Amino acid sequence: MSLLELHGVSRSFGALRALSDIDLTVEPGELRAVIGPNGAGKTTLFNLISGFFPPSAGRILFEGREITGEQPARLVARGIIRTFQITEIFPDLTVYENLRLAVEAAMGLTFRPFLGAAGRRAVARRAEELLEAVHLADKADRVASELAHGDQRIVEMGITLSREPRLLLLDEPTAGMGEEETEHMVGIIRRLNRERGITMLFIEHDMDIIFGVADRITVLENGTLLAEGNAAEIAANEAVQAAYLGSRR
Ligand SMILES: Nc1ncnc2c1ncn2[C@@H]1O[C@H](COP(=O)(O)OP(=O)(O)OP(=O)(O)O)[C@@H](O)[C@H]1O
Ligand SMILES: [Mg+2]
Repeated sequence: MSLLELHGVSRSFGALRALSDIDLTVEPGELRAVIGPNGAGKTTLFNLISGFFPPSAGRILFEGREITGEQPARLVARGIIRTFQITEIFPDLTVYENLRLAVEAAMGLTFRPFLGAAGRRAVARRAEELLEAVHLADKADRVASELAHGDQRIVEMGITLSREPRLLLLDEPTAGMGEEETEHMVGIIRRLNRERGITMLFIEHDMDIIFGVADRITVLENGTLLAEGNAAEIAANEAVQAAYLGSRR
């Protein structure tokens, strides 16, 4: 069974058709890039999959069940987790505290100040596991606001993982990052996919990252699905080359 299916999905904003008749299937374990010129409809696609607004037409299925029009909180509970353009962390807390709070929230323990010793140990274990997963153990005691932008986004990845995603939607995860931070982030994305089997869709503009990381690539242009395939197929696709001429960031 496919993990995610979109059938004839469209979304309009007034007279503007941000997405038209999109058919898309994502298999479990896939690492899929979503690319396309500015305004192609990539973020809108994520907004529809994560329930931020309903499609104007079409159906969305997750693990074979219809989720069209379901609220974001329900979809998070099902394991559809997204990240945002803006970094969402507690700036005055340390990296470790940020992850600990995320774990408590994910375990439903936020308003239980008198958590027993066993509960506290379970939370600490999980927070440490997340620190390892995103390779931030050496920065555990740093205050989040003092970290470089890229590291803050990586903390956010750790927070995202606390929710145990079955489908992770990453909107430009390396935007605004330097070379080293980008490598760190790309390494994490690859490991989470290969080692933990987390299925991911990621929006990206950097061709080296796209071709180096993605199993498959979906190309949107002007709200339509222009092409889909592996790196070699997309690189050789003339329609894709034409769409990118002059419009690549
Ligand atoms: N909430 C909204 N209300 C009105 N128009 C919107 C809304 N969200 C997106 N749009 C419009 O839909 C089109 C697609 O936007 P979208 O943000 O999905 O593009 P994108 O591919 O993510 O672009 P970028 O690469 O610049 O992030 C654009 O014309 C945009 O202005
Ligand atoms: Mg966007």
